[in-house]
Amino acid sequence: MLQEIGTIQTSFDTDLKSISSVQDLEGIKSKYLGKTGLIPQLYKQLGRLSPEEKKEIGSKLNDLRHKAQTGLSEALIAFEEKIFLEKSRKNMVDMTLPLPKAAYGGRHPITQTMEYLIELLAQMGFDVGEGPELEHEDFNFTYLNIPEHHPARDDHDTFYIQKPWLLRTHTSPVQIHYMKKYTELPIQMIAPGRVYRADDDATHSPMFHQIEGLWVDKGIHFGHLKAMIKAFLQEIFEMDQVRFRPSFFPFTEPSAEVDIGCVFCNGRGCRVCKQTGWLEVMGSGLVHPKVLQYGGVEDPAVSGLAFGLGVERLTMLLFRIPDMRMLFDNDPRVLTKAARHRHFPHIREDA
Ligand code: DAH
Repeated sequence: MLQEIGTIQTSFDTDLKSISSVQDLEGIKSKYLGKTGLIPQLYKQLGRLSPEEKKEIGSKLNDLRHKAQTGLSEALIAFEEKIFLEKSRKNMVDMTLPLPKAAYGGRHPITQTMEYLIELLAQMGFDVGEGPELEHEDFNFTYLNIPEHHPARDDHDTFYIQKPWLLRTHTSPVQIHYMKKYTELPIQMIAPGRVYRADDDATHSPMFHQIEGLWVDKGIHFGHLKAMIKAFLQEIFEMDQVRFRPSFFPFTEPSAEVDIGCVFCNGRGCRVCKQTGWLEVMGSGLVHPKVLQYGGVEDPAVSGLAFGLGVERLTMLLFRIPDMRMLFDNDPRVLTKAARHRHFPHIREDA
């Protein structure tokens, strides 16, 4: 019987080494330890032995059973560990792989346009001036030659906060602030910023952006205005079609509105330019003497030119955005749109 125990032990060890699945393990378990398995059968033979033999062989048998049990449970653990490692190797992350394309944030088209225009005007010699968005009506109107009860005040759809305080309806009041503060000539200033009007449709937003321009010096005349604005617009739009149309603003005399050839149809006439072939882009003129006076400029030999442009409008032209409200809806398709312009920072179109 001792020999038999040894043989079983050896064959058990060989069997255990050859397993390739959990079923194999189950098979071995029932072959050796099952009810009719090899080891229980040996136990049954114990009855035929003398008490001494029983003692000796019984303990060998117990050893065998114990070895078989621990061998099986250790093999099961080892096997499960092997399966786990194989599985996790399959799911392993390769840290050297390139990342999937992510959606990048970017600066708003209005911001990009603002920064580009400021940069361009700075290169032409303009300093950046500032004024408050919560403005006094004298600065917003009176000092710009729009006296109380003048109908031009009604045109502006003003948000009054508490009379005389209002949300500025244009950046023109910065002209006055700047002239009062910086008296040395020449004065060459731009004022970019937010303005507010009670107006909301496809071409108007209650808050929008303007850039004001002011150039005051001895002998400034309309030729300077024309040359400066032409050069500015030609640089932006790379085209020759710029025209000055007589107009009226209380704070300039003479006044002109500036048009460029329609960038959508190259002047042929389309829906955007209402078949005229022209797009209005800014207001301009020679600073009204009264405005210079309110600004503290006393010398009659000193004159000035001024202009004001709507940043949203230029953004729409540069980015080919047809409705002003799209600029404020925060639709990612609009926000990631790239300007069709050589000087705009490249936006990832795949972002
Ligand atoms: N302030 C005017 C507006 O908001 C725009 C404007 C027109 C500004 C002519 C100027 C100018 O400086 O000369 O409608």
